[in-house]
Amino acid sequence: MAARPGLLRATTQISSRYPRLCMSSIRSSSISSKNSTCSNSSSSHHRAVAGRTFCTTTPNRKPASPSASSTADPSDNNATGNATGRTTHFGFEDGLSESEKTERVAGVFHSVAESYDRMNDLMSFGWHRVWKDHFVSSLNPGHSSSNPPAPQRILDVAGGTGDIAFRMLRHAHVLNRNPSVHVTISDINPSMLAVGKQRSASLPASQQASLSFLEADATSLPPGAIASNSLDLYTVAFGIRNFANIPAALAEARRVLKPGGVFACLEFSKVVAGAPLFDAIYKRWSFGAIPLIGQLVAGDRDSYQYLVESIERFPSQEEFRGLIEDAGFVVGGRGYENLTGGVAAIHKGMKPL
Ligand SMILES: C[S@@+](CC[C@H](N)C(=O)[O-])C[C@H]1O[C@@H](n2cnc3c(N)ncnc32)[C@H](O)[C@@H]1O
Repeated sequence: MAARPGLLRATTQISSRYPRLCMSSIRSSSISSKNSTCSNSSSSHHRAVAGRTFCTTTPNRKPASPSASSTADPSDNNATGNATGRTTHFGFEDGLSESEKTERVAGVFHSVAESYDRMNDLMSFGWHRVWKDHFVSSLNPGHSSSNPPAPQRILDVAGGTGDIAFRMLRHAHVLNRNPSVHVTISDINPSMLAVGKQRSASLPASQQASLSFLEADATSLPPGAIASNSLDLYTVAFGIRNFANIPAALAEARRVLKPGGVFACLEFSKVVAGAPLFDAIYKRWSFGAIPLIGQLVAGDRDSYQYLVESIERFPSQEEFRGLIEDAGFVVGGRGYENLTGGVAAIHKGMKPL
């Protein structure tokens, strides 16, 4: 099979072996969310948001070591996700069922939705914008050497308030002059999606027309909305560490991508070895300042405590690359790119032909 023009610049190492980009379509639609109920524990408390009750947790303060299998046995790639009997963690608190974690994560993001964008700037000194810009330009959405340009279907999972999707639309429509790129923002949390929808109203009309929203759990994407083998690109930014079953989400990513399609993840990661002072300052900032800023700015210390603990629990770059490979993706070279000394990292993999 002849190689076709590339979608993603930074995957050229693997793309020489695997041609990319075919045309297809996804149907994006809204699905209704299930009302959540709290599986309570002594340390959890309840928040009533938008008519529903969600749990958030005051986690045990005992750091547990990060683990690649922290969300489930990586060999247990159940594409339907959320099987019973497995345990996972919520920040530093262990022994939760997957549904308990999903509920508590829902509570966190319902709570932070309105302040999320402002807090991101404060917590990262604006660095999240640089990382997101770099992530998107490394994927080069809309790039096509054919005339007319090939349509592309992109799913931004855990897309939240739209930062990645909006950048991709702008890159495709403005920089690559390819308006036939469609981006679906998918997220489990209706509060985050509501903020994203509100923000999307300020996009140019052509970009709004290329955007849709889907409320869905990344560990079990609705096949009626996201068909198998239908996407050119699957992105997830700062979302995957919150999933109750990471291998199930990776299996879903593989299912929905076309052969040759690309999985790309931007996530907090581990500071590179050899920078102990930087790591110490970063940890001090994360655990000392971020929950405090959350308390002062958003009136919610617990949610930001969870966010920093979830970063600490996320697997290392090498462990996460192993999970991506275990899910059946082909990984080129080292498989990841460290950003700001490993504070964040970009991972990519390609679904084999
Ligand atoms: C830190 S925010 C990232 C938002 C956005 N991608 C960004 O970079 O700004 C994490 C998002 O993951 C979503 N999320 C958590 N668990 C999820 C799941 N199981 N399926 C889909 N989205 C999930 C949350 O609702 C939240 O919007």
